Amino acid sequence: MRILFLGPPGAGKGTQCKNLSEKLKVPHLSSGDLLRDAVKNGTEVGRLAKSYMDKGELVPDPVLIDMFRERLNSKECANGFILDGFPRNLAQAQALDKMLEEIKQPLIVVLNLQVPDHLLMARITGRRTCPDKQCNAVYHINFKPSPDGKNCECGAELVQRSDDKEELVKERLRIYNEQTAPLIDYYDKKLLLRTIDGDGEEQAIFADILHTLTPPAVPDSV
Ligand code: AP5
Repeated sequence: MRILFLGPPGAGKGTQCKNLSEKLKVPHLSSGDLLRDAVKNGTEVGRLAKSYMDKGELVPDPVLIDMFRERLNSKECANGFILDGFPRNLAQAQALDKMLEEIKQPLIVVLNLQVPDHLLMARITGRRTCPDKQCNAVYHINFKPSPDGKNCECGAELVQRSDDKEELVKERLRIYNEQTAPLIDYYDKKLLLRTIDGDGEEQAIFADILHTLTPPAVPDSV
């Protein structure tokens, strides 16, 4: 399976990509997680990325394109992948098309997770994440609290992402609408787009995603 997720910040892309990656046993490539790892490791890319992420802006295209080219060409992706957060504008989408053409691994489907604007801010500002690299669990103070409301199941103390503050979220949403939302039309024209209603309970949305990915049954009469 070669799947791309689209959706605004806080739509639940990371949550559903994790569920799907476990179910399908294909890697989940999250641009945000890859960038945050680079920041944590203090690499050159991480230092550059941080200066943009701290303002809620997009990191320059060449950084992301190189990062994903390396991943998509690795053995890890030989049997499929789930892309989350890349591409995020037209230039990145065109670069991805080219990369996938070169490795003869075209996208099978693009899932657009649709969530009304008024829910996004509450989802993002209430998010808490596990800082442990191996765990990386994501919770929500109201919608998915950790067992004791403070620590992850793995024991690490939960933290709030530095870009999950209200002012930055507003900027991220503005940039999403300006630069990323046009990709919905881009993939619709390629007949790859499927829309998923992301307003609901996590497991119900996951069931809907699995249903969308299941090929229609062959009618008895055929
Ligand atoms: P990134 O990490 O990709 O952030 P994002 O796209 O803004 O998406 P989020 O992680 O905020 O949301 P999500 O949809 O994954 O939601 P989640 O499942 O966590 O990017 C961060 C930054 O990196 C960017 O701003 C940019 O600077 C840079 N960057 C990344 N990619 C780039 C690129 N390609 N080019 C340039 N720059 C790039 O859910 C959110 C919360 O809601 C959680 O608490 C969760 O528990 C809760 N939740 C999930 N589902 C539900 C539900 N059904 N009901 C109630 N709550 C729910």
